[in-house]
Amino acid sequence: MSRVLCTLKDLDVTGAKEIVLERDGGRFPVFVVRFADQIMGYVNSCPHARLPLNWREDAFFDVTGTFLFCTSHGAQFDPVTGNCIRGPCKGQRLIPFAIRIDGETIISEQDA
Ligand code: FES
Repeated sequence: MSRVLCTLKDLDVTGAKEIVLERDGGRFPVFVVRFADQIMGYVNSCPHARLPLNWREDAFFDVTGTFLFCTSHGAQFDPVTGNCIRGPCKGQRLIPFAIRIDGETIISEQDA
């Protein structure tokens, strides 16, 4: 079932927005990220130890603003592909979360 996740404006400050959905009565955190004029969605779970990537609200990029960063053990991810390019889960990737853009709104294309 599609639902509104956030707006494009929500990505202006950090380039990303976390949204906590509900699945089977529990939390299912996903995030939307903008990089190089592309918008991608991922499940907020690092392939290394399945911890959330961010340590504070909507902070997913490293200091260079080039890679997504897992704050627990330092894995870095290509924001467009979700591939881990450095760190303990190198060669693995973030789980994509299907989204679509409708005007200024970002909408989920899959169930949580
Ligand atoms: S949980 Fe992400 S690098 Fe360890």
